Amino acid sequence: MENKVIDESRQGEALLLNVDKNIDKPAGRQVFIESYGCAMNFSDSEIVASILIEKGYSTTSDYKSADLILVNTCAIRENAEQRVRNRLKEFNVVKRHNPKLMVGVMGCMAERLKTQFLEQEKIVDIVVGPDAYRELPNLIETVEGGQKAVNVLLSREETYADISPVRLDSNGVTAFISIMRGCDNMCSFCVVPFTRGRERSRDPESIVAEAKLLFEQGYREVTLLGQNVDSYKAPPKYSPKGRTLNASDSPHSGELEGASISFSKLLEMVAQVSPDLRIRFSTSHPKDMTDDVLHIMAKYDNICKYIHLPIQSGNSRVLEMMNRGYKREWYLERIAAIRRIIPECGISTDIMTGFCSETEEEHRDTLSLMEEVKYDFAYMFAYSERPKTQAERKLEDDVPEEVKQRRLAEIVALQQKHSAERTKLGVGKVHRVLVERVSKKSDQQLSGRNSQNSVVVFDKHNFKPGDYVNVLAESCTVATLIGKAV
Ligand code: 5AD
Ligand code: SF4
Repeated sequence: MENKVIDESRQGEALLLNVDKNIDKPAGRQVFIESYGCAMNFSDSEIVASILIEKGYSTTSDYKSADLILVNTCAIRENAEQRVRNRLKEFNVVKRHNPKLMVGVMGCMAERLKTQFLEQEKIVDIVVGPDAYRELPNLIETVEGGQKAVNVLLSREETYADISPVRLDSNGVTAFISIMRGCDNMCSFCVVPFTRGRERSRDPESIVAEAKLLFEQGYREVTLLGQNVDSYKAPPKYSPKGRTLNASDSPHSGELEGASISFSKLLEMVAQVSPDLRIRFSTSHPKDMTDDVLHIMAKYDNICKYIHLPIQSGNSRVLEMMNRGYKREWYLERIAAIRRIIPECGISTDIMTGFCSETEEEHRDTLSLMEEVKYDFAYMFAYSERPKTQAERKLEDDVPEEVKQRRLAEIVALQQKHSAERTKLGVGKVHRVLVERVSKKSDQQLSGRNSQNSVVVFDKHNFKPGDYVNVLAESCTVATLIGKAV
């Protein structure tokens, strides 16, 4: 059994997962699942695996011997889509020898392209959007009957709350829990509201139950996932009034406001599962992140002191064009609140450079904001125009590619410097590390993360994945602390 995760970056097109879970099933049909993009895709693949295993499939890490190949796709930037298209070419080589092989595309690119996918990529048999995974067995049947199959219906309710995901990441220590789906924010550059639909939250009981089950199975860290976790709001049946939703209620109607469990409350509920279960979450939105959440983080030792707070740009005019809902000053005030309430908190961000009409001076505002915050880590991108977004319809993508790339290089260089400085601050200190795996560089060393999300490597001795170990950091690289157990 081999599980492979290449590059664990949360965003974009980098996450690639091959899985092999033959879970006590007779040799039946085999599915190969490969995921690109954000952690949410990774998590969705686990739901899809669960649905298919229920139907007698087992998963394989060898696409050449699979009966079904599923690619969970990302549409956030054009190069993410290009990678999927290139990969499909490789699968096509196999399909030429094995015409019975079925190839399905799922996720955001499937939702964006719909039936066009079938026209553009002849190899594709199934196109299935993020809210239609329950339909996969039927879609497979359609293909077996000799037709192509598409379901890209988006839903206002689907949260897959009742489906117990099959954990495809085999470290057995960390797991994702999806707490909500979709996004209502409509940032002008972003395709996600079109590909993942309206925002909806999963019921808190099923989230807490999943966390408990994971803990009982030996997992020691869960990451609560949502496009904007700060707008988590339990479905109305959880409101103290006990009133059920009727047709006149919109998710934003004032009536429901405050009536149900918020993200800070949910965080507290999950934190109470066990002091030995660590909690992370992603992604926070600067316009919505409340002090309540920060106070709950400060109150519970097992909530990791780490926040990913995407800024995108350090200039208020650009932020307004992006429809981000905050200005530079507001964002810096949120950073000040984090530092005030959780002084030891690690902070990371997303930065997008070269957005429509961004000037040189505005670019320098991003650099100066980075100087002010000194992020521990950042995901940095050049703006890529996406079809159907507000920016594509109303704004001109007028920053030349070479300018975007030069600005991006400046941002990356500055972040490298800050990451190195921030990591160095951890040297000489003792860190409580949750061991995740044997280190990639040496089988005599273990690797895990501290509360602030820095990677810590140390000599193995008798420790094993799942243990909490106090490690004195003695040296570091740009992003990794190296030390010894104390
Ligand atoms: N071009 C480049 N980067 C983008 N992101 C989202 N949309 C685009 C786009 N059109 C980045 C943002 C976001 C992260 C998930 O991806 O920084 O926070
Ligand atoms: Fe996209 Fe903005 Fe929603 Fe994030 S908050 S998924 S950037 S629309």
